[in-house]
Amino acid sequence: MTTITSYEDYLKEYKKSIDNPEQFWGEQAENFVWKKKWTSILNWDFEKPEIKWFEGGKLNITDNCLDKHLDILAEKTAIKWIANDPKEGSISLSYKKLHTQVCKFSNVLKNNGVVKGDRVCLYMPMVPELAIAVLACARIGAIHSVVFAGFSAKSLADRINDAGCKVLITADGGYRGNKIINLKNIADQAMLDSCSIKKCIVLKRTKQKVVIKKNRDVWWDNEMENVNENCNSESMNSEDPLFILYTSGSTGKPKGIQHSIAGYMVYTHFSFKNVFQYKDGDIYWCTADIGWITGHSYIIYGPLLCGATTIMFEGVPTYPDAGRLWEIVEKHKINIFYTAPTAIRSLEAKGDDFVKKYNLSSLKVLGTVGEPINKDAWEWYYTKVGKENAPIVDTWWQTETGGIMISNLAGVTPMKPTFATLPLPGILPCIMDDQNNEITKNSIEGKLCIKFPWPSMARTIYGDHKRFKETYFSAFKNKYFTGDGCYRDENGFYRITGRVDDVLIVSGHNLGTAEIESAIDQHPNVCETAIVGYPHSIKGNGIYAYVILNSDIKKENKKQLKLELNELVVKEVGPIAKVDKIQFVVGLPKTRSGKIMRRILRKIAEGDTHKLGDTSTLLDPKIIDEIKKNAEYAY
Ligand code: PRX
Repeated sequence: MTTITSYEDYLKEYKKSIDNPEQFWGEQAENFVWKKKWTSILNWDFEKPEIKWFEGGKLNITDNCLDKHLDILAEKTAIKWIANDPKEGSISLSYKKLHTQVCKFSNVLKNNGVVKGDRVCLYMPMVPELAIAVLACARIGAIHSVVFAGFSAKSLADRINDAGCKVLITADGGYRGNKIINLKNIADQAMLDSCSIKKCIVLKRTKQKVVIKKNRDVWWDNEMENVNENCNSESMNSEDPLFILYTSGSTGKPKGIQHSIAGYMVYTHFSFKNVFQYKDGDIYWCTADIGWITGHSYIIYGPLLCGATTIMFEGVPTYPDAGRLWEIVEKHKINIFYTAPTAIRSLEAKGDDFVKKYNLSSLKVLGTVGEPINKDAWEWYYTKVGKENAPIVDTWWQTETGGIMISNLAGVTPMKPTFATLPLPGILPCIMDDQNNEITKNSIEGKLCIKFPWPSMARTIYGDHKRFKETYFSAFKNKYFTGDGCYRDENGFYRITGRVDDVLIVSGHNLGTAEIESAIDQHPNVCETAIVGYPHSIKGNGIYAYVILNSDIKKENKKQLKLELNELVVKEVGPIAKVDKIQFVVGLPKTRSGKIMRRILRKIAEGDTHKLGDTSTLLDPKIIDEIKKNAEYAY
């Protein structure tokens, strides 16, 4: 595996990767265990789109995450799990123990009818069994679809149905701060709306009472008793799917982003090692949830492929108080710490005393992901957490990219606050103008595309290749369109400025405006809704709803209505999509073709009502004055 150790090295490797990508990635792929070597490195066509890496190869990713390490690292901690409640402490799973658990659970899956190619849905708290279940799916060639445990029954059912999952793995409940999430209850509701689930495997975590349905529900612990500890890994083709992970899109229906095995393996290992400059013995902690791509690539696969010790934290940054993350850093001597700007901002807002209390001198590298980091949060992270000794890697990437695409390499390539900086080897970004031309100059802003395939890119949207093509490969010919706006400075450093489509990034979570709108529209008093984002000091973006009612209601009832609308949002999407502000309006600014001009609504929500730009194409421009006038009455 190429390890980049200096800026000159980076420039050299980058050039090599662009001049001869196949040779570059072929060399990286040599570092893995293959059951059969590939016959071709890359075949691609962005028109179709079709992307194939390492075709002809046969492998199993778990041979590389687990078995490969058993000779030398058997007793090394693979996963150190830290409980939500500090009194419950932590559990360490060595590579050997993790291997055994994964093999046992692989047999449990088989005993419950799962075969290669089946989809398995995981709706679980952040406990080691989640990682075990993910790896067990991979070991037997089943496709895992992890659904974040904060999603509602409806969202879970939609995802189960879309992928036609055969088995659901969940828990009785989950702890998050001082809350208990009734996972099995929610899963039961979801299963009422999904007929593909044949078995539900239930882990005991909170020990609360749950309903067990005969012939369908089984307990994890019972299944694990007396099961064989050996399970040969299934021989998989390089391009067989490894997992599906749902992400929001511009329409209400979430997209099942599908990744394949070999390319994802090569790229997550390569990027983990180089971006974080991981060294043997480092203790690495990514605070993300495994329900998101960050957890897949950089809690489970990347670190385990590297033979690292990866921390898995069940709790939240503010429980029992805002010093929790720093207490963990001190206690477990974390060397590499990776989190989201929203967490940094929320902890900064609680004051410096929580950070000062702890000895954070073990920290060598800090990372951020998920949304643009503002200068103030960057400075605080750098000075108060890293004490100016730990470089910050600002890592830009997406569920669809599978791995980190643009980022400085810790302490190796230059860092610039609020800039993701330079592309990783093999990544060819470009910036497009509104006329769909590539802008080759520097100091410009436009839409970010990628010109050449990389190993961990998504291969399709599960069951909807047409949508895959339309969403990512149609806006710009022969290019992957990221949906992000981007600025490139005079030195060629990239700064991601935010989404240019109808996707909102709220607290680092990807939400579609359409799914929130359709939840609110279900209320009998609501005629139509438009959702936009507005700057929010902690969440990055807050959610602002413009709602047209069927009939006007009294002012004193509007607060109550807001509560009811948010109940619907929680039920349909989940608590992460709760609306922050609601403005009741008599109409929405629409073009003659009926499209809502969100650009204008965004400006008003931001409080910038002067420069609204061209409004001449609106059906009824007068509506804007009305909305502006009432903006101060948002609830
Ligand atoms: O808008 C970008 C933002 O998050 C989006 C991808 O969201 P998701 O698929 O949920 O994956 C998040 C974790 C990889 C991107 O299109 N984003 C991600 N990282 C950054 C970012 N925006 C600015 N800077 C980043 N470092």
